Amino acid sequence: MSKGGFDHYMLKEIHEQPEAIRDTVAESLLGPATAGTSSPVGYLPVRDPDAVLLLGCGTSYHAALMGEQILSQLLTVPVTARVASEFQKPAVKAEQGLVVAFSQSGETSDTLTALRRILGQGYASLGVTNVMGSSITRAVDATLYTRAGPEVAVASTKTFLCQLVTLYLLGFHLATDRDAVSIIPQNLQVLPDLVRQVLSRDSAIQQAVRQLTKAEHIFIIGKGLGVPIALEGALKFKEVAYLPTEGYPAGELKHGPFALLGEKTPVIAMVLADEHRSRMITSIKEIKARGSTVIAIADRGDGEVAEFADMVLPVPKTDPLLAPVLHNVVLQLMSYYCARKLGCPIDRPRNLAKSVTVP
Ligand code: G6P
Repeated sequence: MSKGGFDHYMLKEIHEQPEAIRDTVAESLLGPATAGTSSPVGYLPVRDPDAVLLLGCGTSYHAALMGEQILSQLLTVPVTARVASEFQKPAVKAEQGLVVAFSQSGETSDTLTALRRILGQGYASLGVTNVMGSSITRAVDATLYTRAGPEVAVASTKTFLCQLVTLYLLGFHLATDRDAVSIIPQNLQVLPDLVRQVLSRDSAIQQAVRQLTKAEHIFIIGKGLGVPIALEGALKFKEVAYLPTEGYPAGELKHGPFALLGEKTPVIAMVLADEHRSRMITSIKEIKARGSTVIAIADRGDGEVAEFADMVLPVPKTDPLLAPVLHNVVLQLMSYYCARKLGCPIDRPRNLAKSVTVP
């Protein structure tokens, strides 16, 4: 497969995200599984679950963690995310639960094992995968495909964004308060364009990463929906740039990691325009006072963040539920440009495999 004029598959795949999102939205709203039915929830194995369990490994686990937050906001039943490699049994007993297993490849051994553990325990199963006919599709009651197209780089980028899109649409389909979610399809239609805007301004991102490549340690912090994105961003920095990077809830830094702050420990702070915004600004001030450089990712025109952070990478304004997608694209590009500057083998990092089919 060609790199389409890009230096690496990772960068090509980051740039393919607008189309991947568009195709996944089309699949989930109108896709083949729903054809012939009048209901947009045609592919769901259970329409009114009394509990939702989300499973995945690696990047797919971070999608599950996002799902825990997104679906908890939109549904009234308990929603739990679990890392598949540690899963033994569900925390919540269900009569008609829904387990959603995320796996780009559909072949991850730990995810398949976790799925088999839950089957027969009152949970119907939905697989979210990017690979047609993969093992996961044979283990579940129904499959929802992410339409990201083949992902060659070991580090997942476009499939993660598509997993997030399926979560917004699951929330849309499952929510009982229809008014509260009616805006989701419209917002998703404009999302590809917003991602394009982030991609078109990557020169500021290239500037910002200069100071990161010399770091001893990097923190990426967020609150609420920002936390799973921080974890995913940190995974990308580790995978492709080999930089020791931790994703952290902003409020937890003071319970230990403050000891690591200083000149050689820059912090990337994701400031979403939601109810956590002012706490994030407080965290930025606390971090600055301890000598770390702060690069913030925030809404374009947020003057208050610009006042306290050393540098701001702006993203277009959108619904706070969807904004984490844009922050994630910035982090993908930051990790990519760091790796490039450090001369790392970006598409094939040492010791890693695209798909781990052994326990
Ligand atoms: C491997 C890959 C990761 C990926 C994880 C889960 O460890 O290197 O990038 O996130 O597997 O893969 P899956 O195919 O189940 O999403």
